[in-house]
Amino acid sequence: MRLLIDNAQVELINKAYEFYPISGVTTNPTILSKVGGNPFEILRQIREMIGEEEMHVQVISTKADEIVEEAKHIVNILGRETFVKIPAIDEGFKAMKILSYTTEISFTATAVYTTMQAFIAAECGAAYVAPYVNRIDNLGYNGIEVVKQIKNFLINNGMETEILAASFKNSQQVVELLEYGIDAVTVAPDILKNFVKNAAVDSAIEDFISDFESFAGEGKTMKDFK
Ligand code: E4P
Repeated sequence: MRLLIDNAQVELINKAYEFYPISGVTTNPTILSKVGGNPFEILRQIREMIGEEEMHVQVISTKADEIVEEAKHIVNILGRETFVKIPAIDEGFKAMKILSYTTEISFTATAVYTTMQAFIAAECGAAYVAPYVNRIDNLGYNGIEVVKQIKNFLINNGMETEILAASFKNSQQVVELLEYGIDAVTVAPDILKNFVKNAAVDSAIEDFISDFESFAGEGKTMKDFK
């Protein structure tokens, strides 16, 4: 399962890359609104930072022809490794078909709440479908189950589209998907931090250090001995 970071703040992305095995960055209009200004200024900085790794950037247009033009504009500026996020709605599907037939642009079907949306997007040539786990839960359905169902239909129908599960409120939701072999997840920095935040771990490390220092001396490590 590849791990992507769902954020547009360069500092936070940098930090995530420094400490964790991150494979790319996803953004959406809400995430961009938290940074403000010219969106391409920030997206260019992210591109520079992550090199050729994948970046997902969402269109704002809602008419197929405009979505296609916006997708081309995004990829022209940010490069071929950019996956254009297109909402899984009628005009979005029409745009996906046009992009599939006439360009090499890769796209991610976003705002996926149902297996049927994922099915249509996959048939339209989406590289990824992005089901919104937590938002599905908030509607009273089971986000994890929807993702599992999408995974089953993709496998059972020999489809190449991958799942980029999104919208998590806690790390447990991610763990449940890990177990199921989901292709990729994108998580916000605070959820990522909680993957390893654990008082028992901190206490175990502190005990090891203090036991070692009790005979070796304060501040000593294995490097001080031969
Ligand atoms: C990702 O690509 C989605 O846009 C995002 O994960 C939605 O997350 P939210 O439901 O926390 O806003």
